[in-house]
Amino acid sequence: MQLAGNDSTTAPFDITPAGGVLGAEITGPDLSQPIDAATKDTIYRALLDHHVLVFRNQSLTKEQQGRFAQNYGELESHVGRLRNGKRYPIINNITNVDPDGNLVPEAVNRGPNHWHTDKSYHAKPSAITMLHALEVPSRGGETLFVNMRRAYQALPPDLKTQVDGLTAEHSWEANRRNVGETPATPDQVRERPPVTHPVVRTHPDTGTRALYIGTHIDFFHGMPRAESDALMKTLMDHATQPRFRYDHAWRTGDLVMWDNRSLMHRGNTNYAMADERRVLQRTVIIGTVPY
Ligand SMILES: [Fe+2]
Repeated sequence: MQLAGNDSTTAPFDITPAGGVLGAEITGPDLSQPIDAATKDTIYRALLDHHVLVFRNQSLTKEQQGRFAQNYGELESHVGRLRNGKRYPIINNITNVDPDGNLVPEAVNRGPNHWHTDKSYHAKPSAITMLHALEVPSRGGETLFVNMRRAYQALPPDLKTQVDGLTAEHSWEANRRNVGETPATPDQVRERPPVTHPVVRTHPDTGTRALYIGTHIDFFHGMPRAESDALMKTLMDHATQPRFRYDHAWRTGDLVMWDNRSLMHRGNTNYAMADERRVLQRTVIIGTVPY
């Protein structure tokens, strides 16, 4: 599909679906420049249709990426700290390079490498996340996505009945425990107390329903812990099947934008972390209370 922008700041651009259950590549726009209202809306409609958008060959400073992101809402801050104790900046890097510039043989933060939807431990979790590839390894290090709308639709009827109306407790503390990270500090627990969200959420702009689970969940309400853990495993095994998945193989310059309300994602640690750099510049847009 070819669409045209309204003014000279925007070249015509194409939307090419990735061919699977989610994902599309957008060619044409230079996101380092301001975009017009029509382009902004077209990109958002494409996001609602495809859930993950890939813009190739971009070159964005933090400020330029922040400006593009703010077309879609308010930038979100982070509760997490780097291993040197400093808070993540509002536009931060997902990387295997530590704050001193050294390559680390394992993830600087393990959280992003487990299936999750961004900031679901917030009362208003992230709506949209954008990663811009500044440096990528020669192989591996993909970001994996699964379509949670399709996963919900494909649930066996008995399971669908069970999760409809079910709620889950999400917390930063549970996330740290679930991914084997350093425990949340008392200050972080106070700053990000547990929140309750529906296990099936309705997209505020499309009205479609999607499973809303991931490693930020502590437990499902109204059942014993063992039953809750077993249900979580069943749902995660179901949702992460290859038939719901798109793997994004990074190229330097990619800007990937995704809708956290319709998918889960995780990084892949299948690259030479001790030898090759992977630096993805991140912006996150605050969403609304799930329902
Ligand atoms: Fe994430």
